[in-house]
Amino acid sequence: MGALEIRQIKKEYGPLQVLKGVDISLDAGGFLVLLGSSGCGKSTLLSIIAGLAEPTSGDVQLDGRSIVSVHPKDRDIAMVFQSYALYPNLSVARNIAFPLEMRNVARADQEKAVAEVAKLLRIESLLDRKPAQLSGGQRQRVAIGRALVRKPKLFLFDEPLSNLDARLRSEMRHEIKRLHGMIGTTIVYVTHDQVEAMTLATQLVLMHNGQVEQQGTPSEIYDRPRTMLVADFVGSPPMNFITGKVSSGRFRGATCPVEFDYAGHRESSDIVLGVRPEAISVAVDSQTSGIDLNAVVNLVELTGPEQLISTRVGGQELMLTAPASVDVKLGQTIKLSIAPQNLHFFDSSAEGVRL
Ligand SMILES: Nc1ncnc2c1ncn2[C@@H]1O[C@H](COP(=O)(O)OP(=O)(O)O)[C@@H](O)[C@H]1O
Ligand SMILES: [Mg+2]
Repeated sequence: MGALEIRQIKKEYGPLQVLKGVDISLDAGGFLVLLGSSGCGKSTLLSIIAGLAEPTSGDVQLDGRSIVSVHPKDRDIAMVFQSYALYPNLSVARNIAFPLEMRNVARADQEKAVAEVAKLLRIESLLDRKPAQLSGGQRQRVAIGRALVRKPKLFLFDEPLSNLDARLRSEMRHEIKRLHGMIGTTIVYVTHDQVEAMTLATQLVLMHNGQVEQQGTPSEIYDRPRTMLVADFVGSPPMNFITGKVSSGRFRGATCPVEFDYAGHRESSDIVLGVRPEAISVAVDSQTSGIDLNAVVNLVELTGPEQLISTRVGGQELMLTAPASVDVKLGQTIKLSIAPQNLHFFDSSAEGVRL
């Protein structure tokens, strides 16, 4: 169990509107990631779910019951923070058992629960150590263990990996995913890291400025971003945007000579064409299938099996990715090909809504 329903949550601090009517729903057992830039209200929303902050208005329901007036201790929710304070004088085992000790759970049951959690997290051999004798990743596991031991209905994670180095971060990411697969508890996980968001989420919520910009599965969000903001936030390197006009059934780029048939839209309207870097390829010889462009290579960055190529097409910069084996040189003029099925269109207003 652990179905979560967030309805029209607003949070104001004086004149500052931090959350402006957030609606989110998550099935029991789901892994929801709240993604958004710093300051958009992610932690505030998490605190409201946990009961550490009160909403100005709106409702939070867990398994169909409103919990906004339930004491945090009685919500059956456990939280893991970015800075996880372990008790330095207590062993790993006692750190994990702490929430049970607070609830006067019998000693034998505590030990059993700790052993179970330690096995899940693969830290059985560390139970007698003190926190100071652990690495960062091990400490994070203990913090997760302490949340896990209560078998809550809902787990909240607030940027739990942001203090770890890149390698440990990806290791712990796999670990959390594996853990979710094994225990199946509903999770709400906050991050500003889109890779973490894409890989962990069953449901992804992109937040911006106190509002939900889009909720969907990672692939729904990647394949059909609802706004330019979502398109820009998810995907690395980010989507290219080309402003242009539609007339006589053709799209014509304003700042670069992209042109192709485009039916079904208002004539003479300004629109924005979005093309992901991986939808652009370096055309070989004169074999072309899609939209062709002459481009000058600005920058080449090898990232391993791939290279990131920044080019200039007319007055516009276009980024693309290509296999490392494609031979391109700085200053060279190359032919680019855009697959016509991989295009996104947005209206050119401030909201930049998908067309
Ligand atoms: N107790 C508070 N009093 C006043 N403003 C706050 C308080 N807590 C958070 N805020 C403001 O609310 C906004 C969202 O904060 P937060 O939820 O922590 O963002 P995020 O976790 O997405 O980085 C920020 O502008 C922050 O300064
Ligand atoms: Mg935060």
